[in-house]
Amino acid sequence: MLQLENVVKTFGALRAVDGVSLKVEKSTITGLIGPNGAGKTTLFNAIAGNHVPDGGSIMLGGQEIAGLRADQVFHRGLGRTFQIPRPLGTLTVLENMLLVPGGQVGEKFWNTWLRRGRVRAQDAANLEKAREVVEFVGLASLADQPARVLSGGQQKLLELARILMVNPSVILLDEPAAGVNPVLLETLIERIVELNRRGITFLLIEHNMDMVMRLCNPVIVMAQGKVVMQGTPDEVRRDPRVVEAYLGDQP
Ligand SMILES: Nc1ncnc2c1ncn2[C@@H]1O[C@H](COP(=O)(O)OP(=O)(O)O)[C@@H](O)[C@H]1O
Ligand SMILES: [Mg+2]
Repeated sequence: MLQLENVVKTFGALRAVDGVSLKVEKSTITGLIGPNGAGKTTLFNAIAGNHVPDGGSIMLGGQEIAGLRADQVFHRGLGRTFQIPRPLGTLTVLENMLLVPGGQVGEKFWNTWLRRGRVRAQDAANLEKAREVVEFVGLASLADQPARVLSGGQQKLLELARILMVNPSVILLDEPAAGVNPVLLETLIERIVELNRRGITFLLIEHNMDMVMRLCNPVIVMAQGKVVMQGTPDEVRRDPRVVEAYLGDQP
């Protein structure tokens, strides 16, 4: 589904992502773990088009996406959430959802003018889809509230919901459990499992090891910009290189 070959992203002299090759197989929930500063978020940024990689190949469903802009990658079916969510706080939950779909008929002036009926039909379809997705992630009761009143966990659900507006094939989640209360975390985990059951592939950065062990197979371990190993959760837990990668992080 997603195949990386020798991906490099540098910041000056720092090789934050230093020649990463990995595969995310279709229909898996693949975990990506590693100590702080390992380069996990930078790798997500390179995949999702938030950074242009300095080298390497990133294939999504057999097509090269390295160097494409974030919106281009998004509309090819790869969505990502951020470590710190960033909804538009003054807009309502539903309005945040409706900003998502690209290439709408209504966006072009001429279309609005000449084809009112079609625009209205599409707006109605988008609204219906937005309501469905908001309901799916459990935010229906907050649909008309400004996004700023949402808790951190609810904002993460909103980010996931926004991605679902484009029928993604792959979703990258950056620390979805961080700062999320246990009840909401269960909702989030259930939704991920359900979406995966419907065929969506996940790549998941997470420090919550219970969550990784429960959800992910395989698990890929990164440290200092490189892939250290990949294996089942049990293999990863028992591998001395992984322990070393984390201990190497201690001052
Ligand atoms: N925009 C940036 N400019 C400069 N350095 C960065 C930038 N983003 C990340 N880094 C550095 O790259 C390294 C990897 O960071 P990051 O990808 O955020 O790691 P992780 O997500 O695994 O904790 C760190 O040393 C970090 O300080
Ligand atoms: Mg990070």
